[in-house]
Formats: sequence, structure tokens, C-alpha cells
Amino acid sequence: MIYAEHLRKEFKKVVKDPGLKGSFKSLFKPKKEIVVAADDVSFHVPKGEMLGFIGPNGAGKSTVIKMLTGILTPTSGQCRINGKNPQTDRKKYVREIGVVFGQRTQLWWDLPLRETYSVLKEIYEVDDDRFKKRMAFLNEVLDLEDFMSSPVRTLSLGQRMRADIAASMLHSPKVLFLDEPTIGLDVVVKDNIRKAIMKINKEEQTTVILTTHDISDIELLCDRIVMIDKGKNVYEGSLRQLKEKYGNIRELNFETAPGFSLTEDEFRSGLELGEDKMTVEKDKNIFKVRFDSTEMPVGEMLNYTLSHAKVKDISFKEADVEEIIRRLYKQGECENE
Ligand SMILES: Nc1ncnc2c1ncn2[C@@H]1O[C@H](COP(=O)(O)OP(=O)(O)O)[C@@H](O)[C@H]1O
Ligand SMILES: [Mg+2]
Repeated sequence: MIYAEHLRKEFKKVVKDPGLKGSFKSLFKPKKEIVVAADDVSFHVPKGEMLGFIGPNGAGKSTVIKMLTGILTPTSGQCRINGKNPQTDRKKYVREIGVVFGQRTQLWWDLPLRETYSVLKEIYEVDDDRFKKRMAFLNEVLDLEDFMSSPVRTLSLGQRMRADIAASMLHSPKVLFLDEPTIGLDVVVKDNIRKAIMKINKEEQTTVILTTHDISDIELLCDRIVMIDKGKNVYEGSLRQLKEKYGNIRELNFETAPGFSLTEDEFRSGLELGEDKMTVEKDKNIFKVRFDSTEMPVGEMLNYTLSHAKVKDISFKEADVEEIIRRLYKQGECENE
């Protein structure tokens, strides 16, 4: 459904020397600098898939989404969505997609929400019957009724985001581009929005590209993730594979019994695990040990701990995905340096 091939986007930025003199100089002889927002990004998304498109701030995610939606033209590379070129088939294309930029509303600021949807109905040529059914559906999952008559500018962030999501889904698009749709929202609104996305994907096989910083969004919604950093692909696969590849880290927490003394180094001394395979932190009598469970199975670590410390309380947990992703980002930084 979606083909992105070697997408690259350069922006020309005027750089100015400091001070008034610099301002004059840049006015007559502007010095330009090229910013590469997307360097070389490629991926495919089959019909009906929900793809998590992730990466650190400034990685180029929004720039790629803008190219895929036809808002920006790539400097080089190309994309095709449902057989169309977003830049040249613009008119036909906009009816097939829905777009939400979480940072910025697409709605008309001064119009009551109800009228906004009527305008969109005309733009997208949705017939009366479909429109009615669609609004009932969106109302049910996104709970819009309470603020249907309010102008968009008076809505709270959570209401506005629900209204934006509804607008993007109104014309039953084949593809939904959601760029940070849950940013800054409370749990209840996030839940509403996730349900709406899930429902539309299941019932209409809508293809979804979702950009988010919320790992739960990805865990709940996405079949696969594509991660970019500094405008380039760095990972592609399932969240499960990501966990398997980088997620063999376990965290052991234990509290030593009162009066029992143990230092970090004493704990380490019986184990042959380097700093990269194990870290030990101690705060009063509570230890936090992160270790690679492929090097030292959890059972062995348990035995070792119980035989080397007088333990009052002990627990293990899996390193969470956010931790894994943070590590992956760090790794990317190292590779690029
Ligand atoms: N219109 C623009 N002009 C100049 N630089 C831009 C423009 N848009 C984005 N950038 C730069 O491109 C990089 C990628 O930005 P963006 O695509 O917004 O990243 P992300 O959405 O992953 O946070 C950033 O360094 C940003 O400052
Ligand atoms: Mg962005």
C-alpha cells in the first residue's frame, strides 16, 4: 500500500552573521546552509498494517510524513501510496488519506465542530447516508457529543485531538497518517483514540502509520515498527523481535537484611560479567542489578544472590521497551560518531 524509497529532504536555511551588520549582509547576500531533515528513508507497508514510525526528536519523522502526504516534495527518492504519487496525483490522493498532526490542528479555529464536519463532508463528497452513519460511529468511539456545538478554539487539548482524529477518519480513508496523535493527552483520552484507531483498522482494513513517543501506543496498536535516526533507517521489525534482540536485559532488585553488609564490588566479585553485561547500583540496603540474561540465566543469578547475601526481599523484572529503545538510540549515536 505504501512504498517509500530512499526519501531525502533538504531544507535551505539562511544563516546570518550576528548583529545588525550581519542582518544587512544576509539581506543582500544571503548565506545558505543545507539542513538534511531526511537523508535516506525507505520502507513498505502492506494494506491493513499498522506501522509504528518511531525515532528520537529531530530524526525526520514529521518530514517523512509530510512527503508521504504530499505536503512536501522530496529532494530525491520517491513514494507511492495505493499506486499514486502524493505530489502529482494530489487531487485524487487527498480523498484516500487522513492526516493528523498532533502538534497542530487541521480544523477551522472559529467554526463549531458540527459545521467543520459538514464542510469536510462536502469537500470529500461523502453522501448523506454515509455521513450520518459515520458520525454516529465516530461519536460512539470518540465521545464528541458534548462539544459538537463548540467552536474549535474553545476545546481542551483532549477534545481537540478527538475532534481531529474524527475529522481524519470521516471520509473512510484507505490510509491514516497519525503524527503524535496522543501527545500530552490523559489516559482516558488516549484510550478513546486508541480504540478508534483499532476499530477502524479492524473493520475497514485501514492502513495506519503512527508516530508516537508512547510505547504503549506501539504495544497496543502496531504490528511492526520502523525506527529512524538522523534521517536514516536504523531498525525495522516487530516489537517482539526488538525485545528479543535487545531485551535480554533483566533487572534484579533486592534488599539486604538489616545488619548485613555488602558493597557493589563485593557483589560483583564472584561474577565474571563486565560493565557492559551487568551494572550494579546500591542505595542504602537496596540493590538494583541489570544483567544480560543470555550471559547469566535468571535462575543462576537468583542462586548466586541468595548464597552471597542475606536477602530480605527480592524481585526480577524484564527491562521495559522504553529502556531498550533508549539503548538503541544510544547505540545509533555511537555508530554515527
Ligand atoms: N521547514 C524546515 N526548515 C528547516 N529545517 C527543518 C524544517 N523542518 C524540519 N527541519 C529540521 O529537520 C530535522 C527533522 O525534523 P522533523 O522531521 O520535524 O523531526 P521529528 O518529527 O522526527 O522530530 C530537524 O533537525 C528539524 O529542525
Ligand atoms: Mg515530529
